[in-house]
Amino acid sequence: MKYDTILILDFGGQYCHLIGRRVREQGVYSEIVPHDITFAEIKALDKKFTVKGLILSGGPDSVYARDAPRCDPTILESKLPILGLCYGHQLIAHLAGGKVEPASHREYGTATAIIEHRIGVLKDLGKKERVWMSHGDTVFTLPQGYKALAHSENTPIAAFGNEPKKIYGLQWHPEVAHTEHGTQMLRNFLFEVSNCEPNWQMEDFIKKAVKEIKHAVRTGKAVVALSGGIDSSTATALTAQALGKNLTAVFVDHGFMRESEPEFVERIFGNMGISFVSINAAGQFLQKLKGVSDPEEKRRIIGREFVRVFEAQAKKVGAKYLIQGTIYPDRIESGLRKFSEKIKTHHNVAGLPTRMEFKDIVEPLRDLYKDEVRKLAENLELPKEIVRRQPFPGPGLAVRTMGEVTKEKIGILRQADKIVTDEIETAGLKDKLWQYFAVLTDTKSTGVKGDARAYGYSIVIRAVESREAMTASFAEIPYDVLERISTRITNEISQIVRVVYDVTHKPPATIEWE
Ligand code: XMP
Repeated sequence: MKYDTILILDFGGQYCHLIGRRVREQGVYSEIVPHDITFAEIKALDKKFTVKGLILSGGPDSVYARDAPRCDPTILESKLPILGLCYGHQLIAHLAGGKVEPASHREYGTATAIIEHRIGVLKDLGKKERVWMSHGDTVFTLPQGYKALAHSENTPIAAFGNEPKKIYGLQWHPEVAHTEHGTQMLRNFLFEVSNCEPNWQMEDFIKKAVKEIKHAVRTGKAVVALSGGIDSSTATALTAQALGKNLTAVFVDHGFMRESEPEFVERIFGNMGISFVSINAAGQFLQKLKGVSDPEEKRRIIGREFVRVFEAQAKKVGAKYLIQGTIYPDRIESGLRKFSEKIKTHHNVAGLPTRMEFKDIVEPLRDLYKDEVRKLAENLELPKEIVRRQPFPGPGLAVRTMGEVTKEKIGILRQADKIVTDEIETAGLKDKLWQYFAVLTDTKSTGVKGDARAYGYSIVIRAVESREAMTASFAEIPYDVLERISTRITNEISQIVRVVYDVTHKPPATIEWE
């Protein structure tokens, strides 16, 4: 079956991928393609998909700059429906003979668009719409045959259309949540302007990904670094369908896992029809961390050891391919990291292999967002415990143990973490929270236990609400739940005399303590 498909021409805008995701949310398949794809290449794609329309993404350039990215101008005459967004909107105007110039006022943020003609992509919208703008240039004169459909205070032509040609432009970003009725605008383009059938579903993604993985690995063997987190678990389950016994899932227990974690991972993946190897390397990791208390140094050592253990195992099973659970936000993060201040070295099993020798690396989830991965995991019938799992850092409890990591400290923290988890889940708070866990500080304080002076460690309870972990708020956990946690921790763990609650948002704090 060929899916009705929207191609998104990538002009380098930060929301380009989000457009793809918003289209898929509506049940219409989408592919991101380079901005300079030719019309002949688009036609050739028709063998695989039924291309029903094009969206030209935003981008950082000015259309009138000499090296500005352009699209093949013949596509404007191709009779394919086209929607230009931001840079795409300006580019259509520019290529068709209109005039684009720097705006007198740059617009960044929410603006009110006054809709003059509610047709095409703007069908059924209000007279005024809250939209998200982010541009320095503006369309001042329209090409022949084009009509202005909306304006805003600073943008005389904020939307335009050429009805017979089914070409529309929006200066704003309908794909971001701040554009209140952005979904309606995109739906109009998909279903009213382009006549798409919403015939794409997650099951189709599975079929397509399985085919791709089979094609990449053929009769070879592959390994996947399985941490038990949602991404690597989903990549494993998906790849299992494609490769069966030719896939080996390698779970490296560095000794900093939560209570019963290795058993949990083994229970789920030990019976999936793939080879599953669980390696206990706890001694090795502890040894390497001896005397190290700097958080970044700890992360680096753990990352390095992880690669060593994993590499040895890949060699043993003769795997030439590496499967990774990298998802789209991981890719943005590494791309952006070049320009942004490094906050902490993320040791992510997804970020393994640069120095490792594999014939190929396959990343079947590379275009998905976290909630799409959750949906996929459900479709693959992974157990709920995996689908709804809270994120857990690659270096595990080692970065929740302040200062030098010792076996004793990890043991204490593991016990405390189990109490925090159990009590929060018993109180029915799990689904409201992004993460909830314990941190073991390196600070000792005085207490009194059983009429005697006690001197011991302090545990921090950390519970946050978040959408994407870029920002987070400390959660308002009811006092009675905090009290139960505190009482249990101090009663059940002799080395703890004090429990505190972390009331810091991110920023300024990060979610994890190290
Ligand atoms: P921070 O502490 O930076 O964490 O606010 C943001 C999110 O990322 C998780 N995290 C990690 N995940 N490897 C991972 O796979 C890591 O090294 C790592 N460090 C932090 C953290 O749990 C939170 O969800």
